[in-house]
Amino acid sequence: MDTIKRRSWAEPFKIKSVEPLRMTTREEREITIREAGYNTFLLKSKDVYIDLLTDSGTNAMSDYQWAGMMLGDEAYAGSENYYNLERMVKEYYGYKYLVPTHQGRGAENLISHILIKPGQYVPGNMYFTTTRLHQELSGGTFVDVIIDEAHDAQAEHPFKGNVDLNKFEALIKRVGAEKIAYITIGATVNMAGGQPISMENLRSVYQLASKNNIKVVFDATRAMENAFFIKIRERGYEKKTIKEILLEMCSYSDAATMSGKKDLLVNIGGFLAMNDDDVFEEARNMVVVYEGLHTYGGLAGRDMEAMARGIEEACQFNHLQARIGQVEYVGNRLIELGVPIVRPIGGHAIFLDAKKFYPQLEQLKFPAQTLAAELYLDSGIRAMERGIVSAGRSKETGDHYFPKLELVRLTFPRRVYTQAHCDVTVESVYEVWKNRATVKGLKMIYEPKYLRFFQARFEKL
Ligand code: F0G
Repeated sequence: MDTIKRRSWAEPFKIKSVEPLRMTTREEREITIREAGYNTFLLKSKDVYIDLLTDSGTNAMSDYQWAGMMLGDEAYAGSENYYNLERMVKEYYGYKYLVPTHQGRGAENLISHILIKPGQYVPGNMYFTTTRLHQELSGGTFVDVIIDEAHDAQAEHPFKGNVDLNKFEALIKRVGAEKIAYITIGATVNMAGGQPISMENLRSVYQLASKNNIKVVFDATRAMENAFFIKIRERGYEKKTIKEILLEMCSYSDAATMSGKKDLLVNIGGFLAMNDDDVFEEARNMVVVYEGLHTYGGLAGRDMEAMARGIEEACQFNHLQARIGQVEYVGNRLIELGVPIVRPIGGHAIFLDAKKFYPQLEQLKFPAQTLAAELYLDSGIRAMERGIVSAGRSKETGDHYFPKLELVRLTFPRRVYTQAHCDVTVESVYEVWKNRATVKGLKMIYEPKYLRFFQARFEKL
């Protein structure tokens, strides 16, 4: 029994090793952001103060993980660390087979190749950039079947990542089940604001899919964060452990793609996991072509060990409470100040509603891209555009996709920044909010063919 009534949580760790931060002047930032084509992806890390670009590969590892790095078995074949990882994946996620990959998109490439025949459809609960591109490169067409609330920044729904079963069923009726390669289920849903999907919905999707012989491919990248939301929001799960919830979530799928760079507290790594013998056989053959032998998949032995150890740490309730609690802290402070953000607050990031910041900017003046640049100019904080630039173009018509959401993501690396960094961030966002009226937007002057948001360049209007 916890006899001390605690008023607040705190991080369940202390800091052993520090990395100095560099602050710059506004004059310096005017130059660096112009040279970066007003794209925060093109900034040099040394010119960034607080880096909220992504929670991907930017996490702080524990002493236990670093100790594991020294135990890397760097054999080309049959590394001990592979077997450790395989054991942990089976124990925590429940899948029978494991194929390591260098990161999440490596797994997406394999599964898309294996399961999609040209002309097939791939429904999912909102797109993710790399996931959809791999589906398209394999000849598939992505179909969004997430609930409508997910496309509305202000709609309050505890499980905004849920699939609209009517949309999924309508697609099956319209094209026929045999034209559907599989359904991808993201948990949490990154592009909707880090929103969770409920267990009830996962179960129903799996039932409907199985009835129609359609496989469910789970994007487990932030599934532990999703499990935390299920524990605190869904009836019947209050007393279950994160581990139990995660296992049940994964049981409603046939395979999973994983970017270990998020939940699993590592700087690099991912995997594909599955239950099906045939899919495993194919994946084991193909991983050799794209990633490396099936017992390392593009990773060093030490990286697999760090990821195996990360699974155990990431699945702790205290860890997830501090991680999601930090994001919630920033979100609640911004809400108090009247700054428009996606509600409810998601798991890995705060999403600023750029359309509300800049109602004067039409979408082709790139409001979210503009807002990310303004934030950097104000304080050296780096965020990421998640709007029309990220959405890209339709592969059929070549036109821009015009997403309803025009967002800037402040993404929190795990175990990296303190509450004081959070306060500085809130103050800077508020400053940019106060100065919103005079902002004029951007013009795109260079557009790459694939995943354009990474390398596109802009000029101030
Ligand atoms: N799925 C989701 C939900 C992701 O968020 C990501 C990456 C991937 C797959 C691909 O994994 O990067 O290891 O190849 N998201 C990063 C982000 C890039 O910043 O949100 P990857």
